[in-house]
Amino acid sequence: MPELQRLRADHAPALLAFERENRDFFAASVPDRGEAYFTEFEARHQALLAEQATGAIAFHVLVCDDHEILGRFNLVDIADGEAELGYRLAQKATGRGLATTTVRALCTLAAPRYGLHTLRAETTLDNAASRTVLARTGFVPTATADFDGRPGLTYVRHNPA
Ligand SMILES: CC(C)(COP(=O)(O)OP(=O)(O)OC[C@H]1O[C@@H](n2cnc3c(N)ncnc32)[C@H](O)[C@@H]1OP(=O)(O)O)[C@@H](O)C(=O)NCCC(=O)NCCS
Repeated sequence: MPELQRLRADHAPALLAFERENRDFFAASVPDRGEAYFTEFEARHQALLAEQATGAIAFHVLVCDDHEILGRFNLVDIADGEAELGYRLAQKATGRGLATTTVRALCTLAAPRYGLHTLRAETTLDNAASRTVLARTGFVPTATADFDGRPGLTYVRHNPA
């Protein structure tokens, strides 16, 4: 069973492989990270860890026994007991409930570990899988939104849901 781990320095090679292997899959649903993300990955990874140390973000990766990364589940803009949730799963790991299970687990630990009482999320209307994940994990739509011309929804989840 893959394990949800807080992002560490030694996750870098597996995380880069995860982002490279799934780049086209992710770009079909969310904006592509751009070439610089890949060429400057190591510096960016270090910067994220430094930011994580301040408590402003909390990044997590879903790791297999063989250290392969299957997903990332991030809390950003952490302030005043609130945070924004974002996630992405390797294409080969989709369709078996892993995103739902992991978002649920992260919501459960958000209060005791990070003091979060409110999580926000957003997705485009055409992202049926993500909308299903959010609905199943207790997020409720709050408003319509426009993400670079793609209609979407913003969500909120209060802890406990
Ligand atoms: C969104 C994402 C995390 C979902 O991961 P996942 O592990 O497949 O999700 P789950 O299996 O937990 O749940 C998805 C549900 O949506 C359903 N679903 C998937 N595509 C669907 C579609 N086009 N129409 C309707 N339902 C769909 C799945 O069948 C599943 O429901 P089921 O359990 O009844 O079969 C994954 O597809 C992903 O990383 N996509 C690319 C990045 C992304 O979109 N991130 C989210 C940005 S907001």
